[in-house]
Amino acid sequence: MTDITEMLIRRGYLWQSFEIYGGMAGFVDYGPLGNGLRRNLEKLWREYFVINERAVEIDTPTVGIEEVFVASGHVSSFTDVAIECEKCGKIYRADHYIKEKLGIETEETIDFISEVLSAYDVRCECGGRFKEPENFNLMFSTRIGPGRGKNGYLRPETAQGIFIDFKRLADYFRDKLPFGVCQIGRAYRNEISPRQGVIRLREFNQAELEYFVHPRDKKHPGFERYRDFQIPLVDKMDEEHNISLGKAVEKGIIAHELLAYFIGRTAEFLIDAGLKREKLRFRQHRDDERAHYAVDCWDAEAHTSYGWIEVVGIADRGDYDLTRHTEYSREDLSIFVPYEEPVKVKVRRFSPKMGLIGPKFKEKSKAIAKAVEEYNGKISDGKIIVRVDGEEYEIENSLFEVVEEEEFVYGERVVPHVIEPSFGLDRITYAILEHSFDTDVVDGEERRVLRLKRWMAPVQVAVLPLLSREPFTSKADEITLKLKRVGIFTEKDDSGSIGRRYRRYDEIGTPFCITVDHQTFEDSTVTIRDRDTTRQIRVKEGDLENVLKELLNSERDIFEFGMPFK
Ligand code: GAP
Repeated sequence: MTDITEMLIRRGYLWQSFEIYGGMAGFVDYGPLGNGLRRNLEKLWREYFVINERAVEIDTPTVGIEEVFVASGHVSSFTDVAIECEKCGKIYRADHYIKEKLGIETEETIDFISEVLSAYDVRCECGGRFKEPENFNLMFSTRIGPGRGKNGYLRPETAQGIFIDFKRLADYFRDKLPFGVCQIGRAYRNEISPRQGVIRLREFNQAELEYFVHPRDKKHPGFERYRDFQIPLVDKMDEEHNISLGKAVEKGIIAHELLAYFIGRTAEFLIDAGLKREKLRFRQHRDDERAHYAVDCWDAEAHTSYGWIEVVGIADRGDYDLTRHTEYSREDLSIFVPYEEPVKVKVRRFSPKMGLIGPKFKEKSKAIAKAVEEYNGKISDGKIIVRVDGEEYEIENSLFEVVEEEEFVYGERVVPHVIEPSFGLDRITYAILEHSFDTDVVDGEERRVLRLKRWMAPVQVAVLPLLSREPFTSKADEITLKLKRVGIFTEKDDSGSIGRRYRRYDEIGTPFCITVDHQTFEDSTVTIRDRDTTRQIRVKEGDLENVLKELLNSERDIFEFGMPFK
């Protein structure tokens, strides 16, 4: 077990689910600190992708009816190729197994995998041969209701709930593009052989933003902020570019400004959450790697002890989802987009001559005249064909007139395109923990310290009475209560020596420790100790709240707030 894994378990960040029954791969429990950290990550995400966008958040069921996933393409296409050993029966995800054994990337098709298995005589770890590869659908299926019930699936992404509600959402935004809709919640994938801890889970947490735009206007008013922003970009040919996002759009490496905006925004968010900038890159999907719905896709990847891992996928899904749901539900999921100025267009009208149509078609004449009026096809061989009550009628051009007119058009119906930044919160949480984990030497002793961003720490302040007796403990209780009341996550701890307590809070990432000592009772001051530098200041008890609020929301030095204290 690595040092960080041992610490995360011991201190209450992440635990194996179902541990007392032997555990189950692909599931993880968040202990009190892990849960706190992930909640803080969600809060920061909302600030970036909801509050500061034209966006709202919704919450839809985690179980979906079959129709949704037939329309979305997940029933037919959301598969990985599985290989099963003939001898021991072990099943592996084919592309991962081949990458591990041969170090090569494979196309995820049965034919390709089959060829690789036989060309390289790939065997199971037990020496056995593999059966023919098979497609394995990653969705968990279920039955809704008693008896034969109705087929359902646990959602493999939160996004579908948003597409299903599109009509209501467009109405909420008064049909005005662009707008964003997000959802934070659980997603489920029955991964074939998850062996990478928190990285590949069967139940995990996503934060997804579906940003609906006019197909001809893939821009964002905030792009200027990221035009000169630079972060390594690895294109689909595996070439790395170290250029600004603006240049990458100009050169056609990133398809449009809106994708580039979300790449910049995502990078800023991840760094603000605690990922190290130098361990972050964006990689474009190869053509054979893109999901069935994506037109272009860039992954944010973080470097960890597992290598480069995808933490966010940013895809241009085009109109795939809304078009498919329109087709399957027969609900019109387009919106009317008015032009800035009405446009004058020439239109051709078919005008029936009732005096001739009446006697010829008798009781059908009214319906036929209406069909002629609505006709917008071609005239061939001097006639048109219209359909009335399931029957076709040939109408000669002597029975109607063609009139050309000019009229104003006020807008058009549009199926919006969707740009989707999709965040895996578990992977980000884990990457934050790895990137923050550090050791240094304090007072001649090695110390473990989790250098979390101050605003991300699950325990922000620890109040430590120097001695575990009165009046120190009551004063510590009083301060703890005051800080909690103003929303600062605070713990009081009076067990063990002060040095041990400092080490404990350094290890779990608490940015500040407050110490109540003898001087507190003389001049109403306490000390604040900074986790990263271990430097201390003395401040007035009455100023504590404000000083801490300022420190916790910034990266300012504590010496700006009080006298150094040894
Ligand atoms: N709606 C788009 C979508 O779901 P995705 O790339 O499949 O896209 C988005 O997933 C993010 O969810 C990934 O970048 C990753 O961080 C996370 N994710 C996907 N599968 C996961 C798994 N099995 N375990 C943990 N996180 C996962």
